[in-house]
Amino acid sequence: MSFTESNAARAIGRTFVDNPTLMLRAVGVAKTFTLHGQGGVQIDALDGVSLDVQRGECVVLVGPSGAGKSTLLRCLYGNYLASAGTIALRDDGCDAQHVAITGAQAHEVLHLRRSVVGYVSQFLRVIPRVPTLTLVAEPLLSRGVAEPEARERAAALLARLNVPERLWSLAPATFSGGEQQRVNIARGLIAEHPVLLLDEPTASLDAENRDVVADLVIEARERGAAIVGIFHDEDTRAKVATRRLELRPPLRHTAAIH
Ligand SMILES: Nc1ncnc2c1ncn2[C@@H]1O[C@H](COP(=O)(O)OP(=O)(O)OP(=O)(O)O)[C@@H](O)[C@H]1O
Ligand SMILES: [Mg+2]
Repeated sequence: MSFTESNAARAIGRTFVDNPTLMLRAVGVAKTFTLHGQGGVQIDALDGVSLDVQRGECVVLVGPSGAGKSTLLRCLYGNYLASAGTIALRDDGCDAQHVAITGAQAHEVLHLRRSVVGYVSQFLRVIPRVPTLTLVAEPLLSRGVAEPEARERAAALLARLNVPERLWSLAPATFSGGEQQRVNIARGLIAEHPVLLLDEPTASLDAENRDVVADLVIEARERGAAIVGIFHDEDTRAKVATRRLELRPPLRHTAAIH
């Protein structure tokens, strides 16, 4: 067992076995960025955040701009490696019933992203030339759903999100910001992952589409998903949140390393 794994094992222990509704546990997560290209300046983005999320909960992250909300979501998704602390996600496929994403190998992270955790970023990272319907169906195909069913479910979700049918056969590169964001949401929600991380999914949507997204988030919660989300408008927060977690910018000492 490596140093990181043994730390994680100590922090998480039998929790996931003893608590069958626990989906995500973060203990003492810190993140410091070092700007190597800028004199080694260090930025403390997170300072010891702990969080448990159970099935059916939607924890909304609140706090001022720069408080570390997006950084925390990226750490939970394994995009950023936490500088300290442990993050574990339920994975019923293994004996301990969890995998610590903070100590995971690349193939374990990919497995978690396929089967356990979905992430909707604020902006769609456009994959050139792939038609919208295929992009949205793809997470279902990779989980073994047959193609006709995957395409049918993708079409239904795009229609619900008011993405016009004439756009479904086109790649989203030329779409408006709001259209791209709705494609992104469809792609992130379609596979009904048991854990969902949502980073301002409604930021460039009009009121009608914001309501559609809020309804989709509530439906995901009601089917038992554990959700951690950032929502820029109070209206959506009030609709979807079961609980709020306030993040504050750490007391930053910005020091250059010479
Ligand atoms: N990749 C990175 N490299 C260096 N610093 C970063 C990086 N990502 C975030 N930061 C810094 O970490 C801090 C927290 O940023 P983060 O994006 O998590 O804030 P936020 O709470 O999501 O803010 P907002 O509400 O504006 O989206 C900021 O000071 C930011 O400059
Ligand atoms: Mg952010």
